[in-house]
Amino acid sequence: MTTINHPNFGAIDEQRVIIFDTTLRDGEQSPGFSMNIDEKLRMAETLAELGVDVMEAGFPVASAGDFESVRRIAETVKGPVITGLARSAPADIVRAAEAVKAAERRRIHTFISTSPLHMKYKLRMEPEAVLAAVTASVTLARQYTDDVEWSAEDGTRTEADFLCRCVEAAIKAGATTINIPDTVGYAVPEDMARIFAMVRTRVPGADKIILSTHCHNDLGLAVANTLAAVSAGARQIECTINGIGERAGNTALEEVVMAIRTRPDAAPYTHNIETTRILRTSKLLATVTGFDVQPNKAIVGRNAFAHESGIHQDGMLKNAATYEIMTPESVGWQKTSLVMGKHSGRAAFRDKLKTLGYGDLGDNALQVAFQRFKDLADRKKVVYDDDIVALVDDEVMRDHQRIKFVDLEVWAGSKSKPRALLELEVDGVRQSADALGDGPVDAVFTAVHMIFPHEAALRLFSIGAVTEGTDAQARCTVRLEEEGKLVDGQGADTDTIVAAVRAYIHALNKLITKRARTEPAALSA
Ligand code: KIV
Ligand code: ZN
Repeated sequence: MTTINHPNFGAIDEQRVIIFDTTLRDGEQSPGFSMNIDEKLRMAETLAELGVDVMEAGFPVASAGDFESVRRIAETVKGPVITGLARSAPADIVRAAEAVKAAERRRIHTFISTSPLHMKYKLRMEPEAVLAAVTASVTLARQYTDDVEWSAEDGTRTEADFLCRCVEAAIKAGATTINIPDTVGYAVPEDMARIFAMVRTRVPGADKIILSTHCHNDLGLAVANTLAAVSAGARQIECTINGIGERAGNTALEEVVMAIRTRPDAAPYTHNIETTRILRTSKLLATVTGFDVQPNKAIVGRNAFAHESGIHQDGMLKNAATYEIMTPESVGWQKTSLVMGKHSGRAAFRDKLKTLGYGDLGDNALQVAFQRFKDLADRKKVVYDDDIVALVDDEVMRDHQRIKFVDLEVWAGSKSKPRALLELEVDGVRQSADALGDGPVDAVFTAVHMIFPHEAALRLFSIGAVTEGTDAQARCTVRLEEEGKLVDGQGADTDTIVAAVRAYIHALNKLITKRARTEPAALSA
């Protein structure tokens, strides 16, 4: 493999893989994972701190909100190359170009389907017309930036000769990265190795560009397929935090990066990810989207480093390497630590936030978070790191939302009908409601409905504990559905009912954002 000279990265070492994060695009476009602009900005800052090389910030033509979030990320987030997705239509490319214009380093990512199935039924285009669109779209994108990525959607189900012709056309038109996605998660590792080796040997100019892999996880093979593509010459990995994405998701960033780090003998590649920030990034995403990862999720699940059986515990005590192939600290897990109590001051709190991976929150947000910490310390015997993470994320994420929680009183018991007195702030105006219900949660949700009438149906309500003990904070998830649109909200508090109403309000705020959004017809995967 020869050294590649890339417009945004300069001379790229042969063994270096570029980490392309698409949490805010492929991840965000999957059901229930939508984020508002502030949430995206916060995630984008955190991804930049994690060290991703390229950040796909969204799909600008999808809606005014998508455009604005890509534009704001391009304007404010420093470090990664910022890219926006575009179909081959000129309007898409012009919109993506406008959205990423302000970035220090920018890219346009354009795609079209190349498989027989997609061309015939989805695009209703003849192969020659698709080929012409490849050339035209890349040529247009190159007028706005030297860094252009072209993707062959459903690439792994594309006929070999046609795939090579399309890749050649894209390179000739000026694409600097060529991505061959396994759009429907159909490939097995052998397919990936064969396809990437074929493109490298058959397509003129393939040694001068970066080949990229983008795998979906429908058969649970996304990480294995990604590693197979890299072993056959791919040098860009497209992935998402917690593996979120269309259907079964995308390649999980944390898994592929830790596979490379843990097995240099089998995967001798380098990358720029600061692995100790992985857990923080994963947790923030879970808070923002309302989806926790499953307990046994590799790297970031709460059982990923837990040892329950006596034999394992015995081995661990003698030598941790007996059952641990990487250290929990290397991905950001810390020993559960007791933190400050109610006498701790603001400086100590600010310091704690830094060690937990928060950048500068700004004076206002710090003050609000500190106040909530003090309230928590008054109510809870022991305040753990996880408690602080839960409350800070809970508070800060809600900073700019239309509906805000103010106060709640609830009366419940086995004899009288539960009653809730709720105060919310809607668009800056305080409003209250007094409601009865079949249970305390029902009474509170009825009160929310009285203050903010809506048609959304409650589809899921779940409660978990942030830490251990009867005084642990509760973390609630509420899923709402309106006209087929699903949103999940989260809330945390030592009072379960307050956590529930915070989660409900979070979900409603997300629904308001989602109402303004229209999905583009032909976007897939
Ligand atoms: O899965 C896919 O094919 C995609 C492309 C748009 C890159 O997400
Ligand atoms: Zn995809």
